[in-house]
Amino acid sequence: MTKDAGAGDRAPDLYDMPVDQLRRHAHEIADWIADYVGRVGELPVFPDIVPGDLRARLAPLPEEGEPFGALLADVDELILPATTHWNHPRFHAYFAVTGSAPGILAEAVAAALNVNGMVWRSGPAVTELEEHVLEHLAVALGLPGDRVGAINDTASTSTLYALAAARHAALPDSTESGLAEGPSGRVYVSEQAHSSVDKAVLTLGLGRAGVVRIPTDDHLRMDASALREAIAADRVAGHTPVAIVATLGTTSTTAADPVGEIADVASGAGVWLHVDAAYGGPLALLPEWRRRFSGWERADSVVVNPHKWLFTPIDCSVLWVRGEDRLRGAFTLTPEYLRTTEGSDATNLMDYGVALGRRFRALKLWFVLRWFGLEGIRRRLRHHLRLAGDLAKTIEATPGWEIHTPGSMALVVFRAMLGSHDEGRAGGPVDAARLETENALNHRILEAVARSGEAFLSHTALDGVVWLRLAVGNLRTTPDDLDRTWAAVLAARDEEEPGPEAR
Ligand SMILES: Cc1ncc(COP(=O)(O)O)c(C=O)c1O
Repeated sequence: MTKDAGAGDRAPDLYDMPVDQLRRHAHEIADWIADYVGRVGELPVFPDIVPGDLRARLAPLPEEGEPFGALLADVDELILPATTHWNHPRFHAYFAVTGSAPGILAEAVAAALNVNGMVWRSGPAVTELEEHVLEHLAVALGLPGDRVGAINDTASTSTLYALAAARHAALPDSTESGLAEGPSGRVYVSEQAHSSVDKAVLTLGLGRAGVVRIPTDDHLRMDASALREAIAADRVAGHTPVAIVATLGTTSTTAADPVGEIADVASGAGVWLHVDAAYGGPLALLPEWRRRFSGWERADSVVVNPHKWLFTPIDCSVLWVRGEDRLRGAFTLTPEYLRTTEGSDATNLMDYGVALGRRFRALKLWFVLRWFGLEGIRRRLRHHLRLAGDLAKTIEATPGWEIHTPGSMALVVFRAMLGSHDEGRAGGPVDAARLETENALNHRILEAVARSGEAFLSHTALDGVVWLRLAVGNLRTTPDDLDRTWAAVLAARDEEEPGPEAR
């Protein structure tokens, strides 16, 4: 408990915390945040607990308020030891992210304002800042600035809304009469697409059969001619193509679908194109990467998550949709109490999704983009690409390790292998027993690294082969952190590798 946690620190009978007390605690919290950010790199990335540990330590809710100091003390004593530290410089799992300082500070301001951007008049600043930031961010990314943009919590929600608009366009009767009687809709994705697309298709009532998986090439990119053929075959079979989802930066390996070729297929077939650039999108800020994105400007909808690689605290997912009324068409439904006199002069953000309420997420994105500046962000993205590329070279040069993805989009995909590259899997027919041993070893390395507290990785499986994923994307990650991570991986292998007699 902090030193001034006493009786006078408790909530007054009827009102909120007095302002002088708020000021004092706000300073304490500011110190706490700065201390945390300053020392997070020395905390174990992954907590040393098992499921249920925290629940067992939490007290029932009190009838009368507690001193504020007790709350902050419990953050240190209970919450931190049960936290996986995403803001840690050696958090390399999933995709590495940063709740950057300007973003953290903006979140505090947003909480103080506590506005709800349901309709323009409930939050003029929420509405217009969101429109402004998204228009300018779109242009910076090489997307047309005339798209309707909206900030959602996650890419899963953004993709759901994009596909809802696509369904409304492809099966207009479904908005009135539901899906029971119409043709069955189909959504085309690569084998590498994120599961959020499947969830969206299920939620939209198209069923599991509504997802059509298109094969990928050797680089795990969607095969555009197979896509064209699948759409044609589905039309013959009486299905309605609803949307194609292309991914720029797949979850497993950051593969980028050939979005230009896919855009040609989409426009030729008259099918909605949604681009999932939840992770990879920020790279379009870099002129040297633009070519890889060529064609995404023709998409009907695009999702980019600033909470992944644009240094904005979770949650912040941007959806852009071409055409004023296409999102509104799927979602506008205004009850009497929300009818306002502003009419068509005003944007009502509730028309862009299921949620009526909307918090002030644009504020943190605005703070982040302004404080770093676009060029500052470009420098940092290039730095991450370099760090990942350098680590990939180290891994590649180390006997007994294999690289799948050499730091492309700042993700290194690699695995421990037994024997040399020329034997077994890489050189000839797959030796199933050896692969099983290798897969088990890589899983154990993953767990041992997490247990060490030094670093945190995740994994994927491609054609039955388990790979470790190491993402670089935190603004506080230094070359020294990557040395420490690699040392932790090597130590985990030493700990976990069976001796030759056990193989
Ligand atoms: C390519 C891609 N799309 C979508 C998602 C889902 O993101 P969210 O957690 O914002 O729903 C992820 C998550 O990592 C992803 O990698």
